[in-house]
Amino acid sequence: MKIDGTLFRSVWVDEQDGWSVRILDQTRLPWSFDILRLTEVEAAAHAIRAMQVRGAPLIGAVAAYGLALAVRRDPAIAAVEAAAAMLAATRPTAINLRWALDRMLARLRPLPTGARAGAAYAEAGAIAEEDVAQCAAIGRHGMALIAEIVARKPGQPVNLLTHCNAGWLATVDWGTALAPIYAAHDAGIALHVWVDETRPRNQGALLTAWELARHGVPHTVIADNAGGHLMQHGEVDMVIVGTDRVSRNGDVANKIGTYLKALAARDNGVPFWVGLPSSTIDWSIADGLGDIPIEERAATELTTITGRALDGSIATLRIVPSDSPAANPAFDVTPARLVTGLITERGCCAASAAGLASLFPEHG
Ligand code: MRU
Repeated sequence: MKIDGTLFRSVWVDEQDGWSVRILDQTRLPWSFDILRLTEVEAAAHAIRAMQVRGAPLIGAVAAYGLALAVRRDPAIAAVEAAAAMLAATRPTAINLRWALDRMLARLRPLPTGARAGAAYAEAGAIAEEDVAQCAAIGRHGMALIAEIVARKPGQPVNLLTHCNAGWLATVDWGTALAPIYAAHDAGIALHVWVDETRPRNQGALLTAWELARHGVPHTVIADNAGGHLMQHGEVDMVIVGTDRVSRNGDVANKIGTYLKALAARDNGVPFWVGLPSSTIDWSIADGLGDIPIEERAATELTTITGRALDGSIATLRIVPSDSPAANPAFDVTPARLVTGLITERGCCAASAAGLASLFPEHG
């Protein structure tokens, strides 16, 4: 996507040296646009854990490049496997992380030691390129759903609601939930996006709003609690979110608060769609509610808030009494019965075992 006229992706190999890995520091956005250079696998692991990069598809791609950095340093398979284990332990919920590392290891294990570094960069590059192509396809399939809404209310903008950040910053490019929005906007469809602030880390208010503004997409940031009210008053035509892991039966793990939006959508007859590349499907889990691990993050994400102070400085404030404990589950699971459908790179399907098997019969 373009930022002030320059094309960017969220991760890339440095053009000058051809091996170090560049990322955008998402903990600094939108206040500061900082490009980081990763030269060691430990730095890649830190970037994922500290959420300098985040979003399921992106952490998969960064983990793959992180493993390439490890292979460059030591291509012995024991060292590569130890590095993969360290990367896999950074965040538990998004399955793309494990998927990318498993794919890298499957490619690297059979190779002679000397061939591993080149193959690791090639495989990480392939993972990144495939993610871009898959997200672009999600955009095309999701745009058709938005166009159907236009046909029902010609001449009026389509109102979408999204939660968290599932745009190009959460993937390598285009995004999952935001890809159809970008595609429809670029095709001239008039639309407006309600952006949930997404407490506690505010990925919606900070990242989604920034992305949409850079691309010129009309949007309004709302408090997380406002969505139900807007749906009751006919202000939302469609909810579209991303996901960190989908189980074989179509249950959807996503940023905390997604489930409440799905309940409100169901109560108000608003379609609730989920955009995802197939790398986010965990075919080994039959029941998302019971089996998807939910990340617990630090209480300080909830008890403090960071933003730009009126004097222009970046400040962090405590917003909870210092003697009150806080809990911070980072994801929830929306049961498949509340999901209108899944938008994948192969098209749309029901959120069910049969729906997923119809698009991905190889996993049937
Ligand atoms: O904790 P995060 O910011 O890494 O959360 C992941 C997400 O961005 C979302 O849950 C997103 O909707 C799915 S990933 C495209």
